[in-house]
Parts: sequence; structure tokens; C-alpha cells
Amino acid sequence: MNAHDSERIAGLLEGMGFKKAPTYEPKLGEPGLTPADVVVLNTCAVREHADTRLYGTLGHLAGLKKKRPGMQIAVGGCLAQKDRTEILNRAPWVDVVFGTHNVGSLPVLLGRAAFSNQAQIEIMESLQAFPSELPVRRAAEHSAWVSISVGCNNTCSFCIVPSLRGKERDRKPSEILEEISALVADGVVEVTLLGQNVNSYGVEFGDKQAFSKLLIQCGKIEGLRRLRFTSPHPKDFTDDVIEAMARSQVVMPHLHMPLQSGSNAILQSMRRSYRREKYLSILEKVRAAIPGVAISTDIIVGFPGETEENFQETLDLVRAARFSTAYTFKYSKRPGTAAVSLEGHLSPEVVAERYQRLVALVDDVSLQENRKQIGETVEVMVGSKSGSKDGGRARLSGRARDNRLVHFSANGLEGDIEPGDLVRVAVSECSPFFLIADGAITSHVKTRTRFNAGLNEIDRSPNSAVNLGIPVFVGS
Ligand code: 5AD
Ligand code: SF4
Repeated sequence: MNAHDSERIAGLLEGMGFKKAPTYEPKLGEPGLTPADVVVLNTCAVREHADTRLYGTLGHLAGLKKKRPGMQIAVGGCLAQKDRTEILNRAPWVDVVFGTHNVGSLPVLLGRAAFSNQAQIEIMESLQAFPSELPVRRAAEHSAWVSISVGCNNTCSFCIVPSLRGKERDRKPSEILEEISALVADGVVEVTLLGQNVNSYGVEFGDKQAFSKLLIQCGKIEGLRRLRFTSPHPKDFTDDVIEAMARSQVVMPHLHMPLQSGSNAILQSMRRSYRREKYLSILEKVRAAIPGVAISTDIIVGFPGETEENFQETLDLVRAARFSTAYTFKYSKRPGTAAVSLEGHLSPEVVAERYQRLVALVDDVSLQENRKQIGETVEVMVGSKSGSKDGGRARLSGRARDNRLVHFSANGLEGDIEPGDLVRVAVSECSPFFLIADGAITSHVKTRTRFNAGLNEIDRSPNSAVNLGIPVFVGS
């Protein structure tokens, strides 16, 4: 959600005539290395490192700003929403502070700050207009995020999101479909639908099956190759969504469904109103309906009151669920959340020790699951043009349909393969975190040729293979 907001911020700044500056490298830290006139820090408050990093980076920017008069610094996102005037107290050299609901005001606030030479702050309690109405500078040409809802009506006791992003607001399906169609017309071949809880989508207009209907409708948009979504919530997960995923060729066989804990007692204290049995039964149904589906998750370790026995239940569930990936987090106290006042906060040593055991198990399961892919042919959507070199071998990277990261040998085709293209390759090796495919590319489909200047020069005829986006190269 934050990264998508950053794309909106970049779009707004471009609208003001700014261009992206070279990457800011705090560690190098010499003034000449940051020729930016405006630096925007778009913050996240979900875990506590964000606080430390924000104030550390601001401290560093203070030095740069002294040497570059006229440079402006803006702080947005969840930490701005949370800390508000605190940011200006601790870092008075900041020019603009804008909340999660005020992204659209950034240009005006920067202008006012420059004109008045005074810091500007704007934090609204609720959203006035959907961020999707703002211009966007997409991080990738071929892939886009589309928000279907913002905010969250749940009250998970560890989570800061509801207090910073507000109650769930759902966008109309027609607006979402229009945005996706426009994106596809602009060269996007992969869309990820975004919501804090996509399964409760429709709660605002009273349609419990709104999300599955939306998936089906999105799947009908011609030219859209891959549709993903994040994140579902086990409590609201209904069978019609599984059916929609199974029926649609466009919805990818991947489910990222946060578990948080495998212990029913801890789930209860987290105010997550499903139980481990329900979680596992969803996985069973999803696996039965969608062959080859990969399941990934989020897990918090060391929640207040977690006993060794509770923790063992999480480990057991990880063994049973066979996650392709699990994002693991040490519980972090978020001021203002209910969990802060619970009994039984654990010592950092206990949390760190459990965390290590969890990560070791998660990596082991991921490795075992990835090993099953060796010898399989996977369809990879190429992610970016920049590849890696290993022993002189040029590799490109992308995601398989099930979202596994694949590094594959370009076999001399690196000049011809563009982001968004689909290649089929056989998996030859793996680690817990990625697959490697060093054999031949057995098929290569150009999905975005209309948008790649170089290719337009090769063939502009309307019915050429290139323009239709059908395979331009099929090997054995
Ligand atoms: N402490 C640790 N992890 C957290 N998450 C959210 N809040 C906290 C917290 N207070 C994790 C959850 C969520 C992911 C985005 O971040 O696992 O799914
Ligand atoms: Fe936070 Fe829970 Fe809402 Fe997710 S569902 S955003 S964890 S309150």
C-alpha cells in the first residue's frame, strides 16, 4: 500500500515538473550525491524500525539541507499520520508533513512551504477521495497495483493500521474495472489488487460476494495476463473466491494469506477471529481446487503471552501448511494498539530465539517445496531488464505463475527479452528463496510489443505475431 502511495507521490511531483533524482544513498552521504530539490520520505508504521529509520534519515538530511539551500523535505505516510507535530519538534528542518489521507495535497503544501518559508502540516482523519484518482508514476511499465479498498474494519490487537488508515472504504467495481482497462491500454499486463482485507471488499455496499465477482470481471479484461491480490483475511475467506480463482485463467495460482499465529489462544488474544482449523481447511480447499497453487503467509512471533507450547503450535502449522514463503516478524509494540496493555510481554532474548527457530523451519519448508519444482517447466513473467551474471552467465529474473522468484539464463536472448514478456523455462536448481532455470527457453511470448519502441520498428502490421502478442519464438 505504501509503495503504491509512493507511485502516486511520484506522479504528482512529475505533474509539477520534477524528475526522479538518482537514488539517495544515506551511507555515502556526500552533498553532491543527492541532487534532489525535493526529498519525500513516505513512511510505514507497521513495525518499529520505520521510526528509527525515519529519524536517522532526517538527521542525515539536515546536513545535506544546510549545504543545499532551497532543498525541501516532506514526510508522509503512516508515521506522519501517527507522529504529526512530533516530526516537526524532532526535525524542525522538515518542510511538509502530510498524512495518509493527504497525498493529493503534497504539491500545494510544498508550494506554500517554499512561499511562506514555514513548515506545512496537513493530516486528515479520513479519506476524501480515493488515491487512485491521483496521477501515478508506475515503478514498472508492465505491472501495476490497483487499490480496491483502503482502511480496515478489523481490530487486530497488534496492528496500527486501522488507527492510521481509517475504516474500510470500498471503491466501486466499475471504477476499478475502468482503471484496469486504462492500465492495460497503457501497456500493463499484470495487476495486483490491493486492500487491507480484500475478502471484506463489498462491505460498504452490502455484497458479500463482491470480491469474487470482481475477480471474475477483471479476468475478462482483454490483454490482462496476470491478476494477483493482497491480502485476504481467513475470517472472511469464502468458497466463492476459491471458485473464482480456480475458474479464471488470469487469477494466478498463489495465495498470500496472513496466519499471524498457529495457536488458537494467541489468535484469540490477537483478536483474529478464525482458528487454526479454519485456516488449514481453507488451504485444503484451495489446494483441491487449484492445482499447483503456492501459499505464502505472514507470522508474528513473540506476541504477549505466547508460551513455548503456543509457539510449538505455530511451528506445527508451518510444517502442515507447506508455505512457499513466510514473512516472519518479531512482535513489535505499537503505541496505541490494544496488545501494548496485555500481560506477559516477552523478553527480546526469548523472542529472538523463537524467531531463529521459526525462520530455520520456514526456510527448510520453502527449500523442500522449491525442490519439488526441479525439472518442472514454469512460465515466468520477466520482471526487469537488469539481470545478474553468474560465472559469465547472464540471468534475468521474474515471477512464476505461483509467484516464485525465478532467475533464468537468457541464453543470448537478453537483448530481445523485455519486462512483461512470458518465457517458459525448466527449473534446474533452487534455494529456499528462488528457483534457477539454466536450460533453454522453450517459449517466449512478447506481451507488450505495441509499447516497446524498438519492436514497433520491426513490425507494425496489425496482424503480425508480434502485435497480437502471440509466441514469437517457440523452441523445443
Ligand atoms: N509487530 C510485528 N509484526 C506486525 N505486523 C503487523 N503489526 C505488527 C506488529 N505490531 C505484521 C503482520 C502483518 C504484516 C504486514 O506485518 O504479520 O500481516
Ligand atoms: Fe491490521 Fe488486522 Fe486490519 Fe490486517 S486485518 S490491517 S492486521 S487490523
